[in-house]
Amino acid sequence: METVVSGIRSTGKLHLGNYYGAIQNFVKMQHEYNCYFFIADLHSLTTHPTPADLHGNIKQVLVEYLAAGIDPEKATIYIQSDVPEIAELYLYLNMNAYLGELERSTSFKDKVRAQPDNVNAGLLTYPVLMAADIIIHKATKVPVGKDQEQHLEMARTFANRFNRLYNKEYFPEPYAFNFSDKLVKIPGLDGKGKMGKSEGDANVVNLADEPEVIRKKVMRAVTDSGPTVENQEKPVEIQNLFDLMKVVSTTDTYEYFDKLYNNCQIRYGDLKKQLAEDMIVATAPIREKINAIAADAPYLRQVARHGAIKARESASKTIKEVREIIGFRSF
Ligand code: TRP
Repeated sequence: METVVSGIRSTGKLHLGNYYGAIQNFVKMQHEYNCYFFIADLHSLTTHPTPADLHGNIKQVLVEYLAAGIDPEKATIYIQSDVPEIAELYLYLNMNAYLGELERSTSFKDKVRAQPDNVNAGLLTYPVLMAADIIIHKATKVPVGKDQEQHLEMARTFANRFNRLYNKEYFPEPYAFNFSDKLVKIPGLDGKGKMGKSEGDANVVNLADEPEVIRKKVMRAVTDSGPTVENQEKPVEIQNLFDLMKVVSTTDTYEYFDKLYNNCQIRYGDLKKQLAEDMIVATAPIREKINAIAADAPYLRQVARHGAIKARESASKTIKEVREIIGFRSF
């Protein structure tokens, strides 16, 4: 069975983009692959969360992974910081990661622009830690979005470089893995790009949002003044709402509003009302589970412990071999 690894940074609540873009696929994959799904809490340290926020955010993702259907009996669910072998491999890989290539990473350049007064070394070496996350389990398949392609390319570079340096075909090459045939695009509500919390809370619909919150957010979504010519092309902000509808509504509903748009009779208020209700229905089963699981401390503790043990089994085997390859030998 091939090994799959993926993680989500613990920086707050998960939203529809995380769910339809990633987690829904994780849930399907867990039956067919040897899956490791983790909470990337070490990665979240680049922005210096307070201890209370750090812990709360880790719990949030753990709860939401479980509520969304990742089964700890099928997949290995763990918290990155529970597996110190990852940090050790990160140290080794850092010795062969070069300043120039790290500085050229698009995500690093974006961060430098976004937070010029916090350009720390952890940010620079983020792709090295991500490579360690993946190759610690010798994974070959990594379900991630398009924005992570460059990081994966770097992971392959670091894995290959290690192999070449020690003249041993040890780490396999990891590749982006698109499990479902169609790539779902989950746009945000701000009329621009994809759903993401860096654009503000109003742009995202969280899995944990109460129905009233969802209604408010959707009703405030950006629209234009409406179509004036039959069958005209939809501007981005309108197309985004239709794209969301495609994901949460029935085909009939989608076609009904599409037709209204095409003959210029659409009322955006009606479309948004319908979209909000369909989002509420789509997320209801997850939302209910979130509340129940979050209140079950013994269950969360058990899942985290069980996951850490399974992840460390795999990780410590790799680290033992890596130490041997590098030349750390016992006397
Ligand atoms: N960089 C990923 C993101 O921002 C999160 C991540 C960290 C990850 N380590 C990983 C994803 C390892 C897949 C595999 O979405």
